[in-house]
Amino acid sequence: MKNDKVVILGIETSCDETACSIVCNGREVLSNVIASQADFHEKYGGVVPELASRMHVDAVFSVISESLDLAGLTLDDVDAVAVTYGPGLVGALLVGLSAAKGLCEVTGLPLVGVNHVKGHIAGNYISHGDLRPPFICLCVSGGTSAIIQVDDYCSMKYLGRTRDDAAGEALDKIARVIGLGYPGGPKMDKAAIGGNSEAYTFSRTHMLDTLDFSFSGIKTSALNQLNELKMKGDGFNLADFVASYQQHIANELVRNTIKAVEKTGVNTICLAGGVSANSFLRREIDRECENKNIRVFYPDLKLCTDNAAMIASAGYFEYINGKRMDLSLNAIPSLPLEE
Ligand code: KG4
Repeated sequence: MKNDKVVILGIETSCDETACSIVCNGREVLSNVIASQADFHEKYGGVVPELASRMHVDAVFSVISESLDLAGLTLDDVDAVAVTYGPGLVGALLVGLSAAKGLCEVTGLPLVGVNHVKGHIAGNYISHGDLRPPFICLCVSGGTSAIIQVDDYCSMKYLGRTRDDAAGEALDKIARVIGLGYPGGPKMDKAAIGGNSEAYTFSRTHMLDTLDFSFSGIKTSALNQLNELKMKGDGFNLADFVASYQQHIANELVRNTIKAVEKTGVNTICLAGGVSANSFLRREIDRECENKNIRVFYPDLKLCTDNAAMIASAGYFEYINGKRMDLSLNAIPSLPLEE
């Protein structure tokens, strides 16, 4: 620690972004470098795990060194290395973890393992300097759809989770079938501009007395409608269809998040994860929160999808809370939130 500043180098390789970031005191981003593989995986319609791991190997050290250069720092200025060790693709996680452990072995810096979901939540601390727990977080990404009660920076618990697909998966799948490509979420958001979000209806799964989600029914309902239209040779209005589909998913997410606020009495909501960039979701949550006088926060767009600044931020809070990991730390593909 130099002049009361804690500098964390964060590394993220849980899926298809190789990322490194330097963050000071958990909220001030000094550099944030991301090498995305999304264009490469697009031709396969989704992430190919083995190829993702290899591409992380090619990129990880140049991303780390670029991140230090952009921050104008060397490893001597860093207090700890934070790295995602789960949840995520095991081969991809192992690349970032091995790089982090190598840095710690050579420099003697402490290693802080970070839960990727906690990283997404921490993206909000960077975007909102005055945000403090407690709050309810709706964390929605390609692999996660969950409502989390964040009691403190390092202490949180699930209130509800998806029982099948994540919201991002449900968006990516239908985008692929329609031919929009990968990743489908942002492409759908764009294709929906000007569309009527009430033009199509989708059946929803009714689940009582739970804050859990289910998106497989909505997805199947959309697939069936697309097949039927195709068989009949009927065309469809793309903007209307994708607007209706996204609105439907946004309604499901927002309904349970508001229920979580009512149940816990915690009157602040944060969004997190790639799907939190979605304009339908943001509009819907803003509308509901304004009506019900609930405070709502979301990360800057560049901090919604995978990045290492959020990992360095979450790592900072774990570090000042005393968390240190042994160099035998392994990747845990389905790492639980309550570690
Ligand atoms: O957080 P993220 O980068 O990776 C995971 O941790 O999973 O999230 C990726 C997911 C993908 O499903 C992608 O389609 C979705 O976030 N996504 C969006 C938008 N931007 C990214 N979904 C809807 N609207 C967007 N604007």
